[in-house]
Amino acid sequence: MADGRVIEVLEDLSQLTLKAASEFAKRASDAVSARNAFAVALAGGSTPKSLYALLARDPRYRDRLPWNRTHFFWGDERHVPSDQAESNFQMAHQALLSTLRIPAGNVHRIRSELRIASEAASEYQAELRQFFRLREDEIPRFDLILLGMGVDGHTASLFPGSEAVRETSRLVTAPWVEKLNSFRITLTPPALNGAGCVCFLVSGAEKASALKAVLEGRTEIDRFPAQVIRPTNGILHWLVDRAAAGQLQCRPVSSSAEK
Ligand code: 6PG
Repeated sequence: MADGRVIEVLEDLSQLTLKAASEFAKRASDAVSARNAFAVALAGGSTPKSLYALLARDPRYRDRLPWNRTHFFWGDERHVPSDQAESNFQMAHQALLSTLRIPAGNVHRIRSELRIASEAASEYQAELRQFFRLREDEIPRFDLILLGMGVDGHTASLFPGSEAVRETSRLVTAPWVEKLNSFRITLTPPALNGAGCVCFLVSGAEKASALKAVLEGRTEIDRFPAQVIRPTNGILHWLVDRAAAGQLQCRPVSSSAEK
């Protein structure tokens, strides 16, 4: 454990997925025991797909997790209708949500079909305030936020050079992402850092250079936005596979997820 963060190296994506599922289950169980609800923000992209599929098919999770007490949110969303393949909601719906019997009110998706992305951001921010019963100046406390990291060190939709990386008051914002030629809707650093646990899932050799810069380089949040994730009163857990950890100098915790 270094400066409040845990870096665990797993052999490969399969082992990382097993470990992430175990972490997800623990957070869900603890949250429901404490508050009779589990508020989780899902990550987009491809890495978490295997986790969502495992939660949906493995009876240890499918049949035992408190799904009817679980409230699903998203860390970010693409500015596309939710029925499009590139939608983070659609990926999670297909891999996990469609297999669960959970109340419709437990799925708090970002309405990315709205023509104006900033309106979708404002609406989602209002939903967060309502669900977490927040006053204007309060921050939501997700029980768990899952995040990925891009090869450029971005996370959620906090991209290098984006003003969203330095947002300090809004909970949700809709930055224009030049390299993608599109808007995104994303939780901001304050909303992300309010979580009880933030868990990064990072796999693949193509991430090794960025991971070393983020974890062991100088703090340069505009170049490596993932560095802005530092929970104010929570756990920061990096689950990385051996390929992604290939350039790390530090001696992370190596573990095997297999029970
Ligand atoms: C998205 C995600 C994004 C993702 C990283 C890593 O909308 O794509 O929010 O931040 O987590 O780009 O993506 P991979 O897991 O596909 O490498």
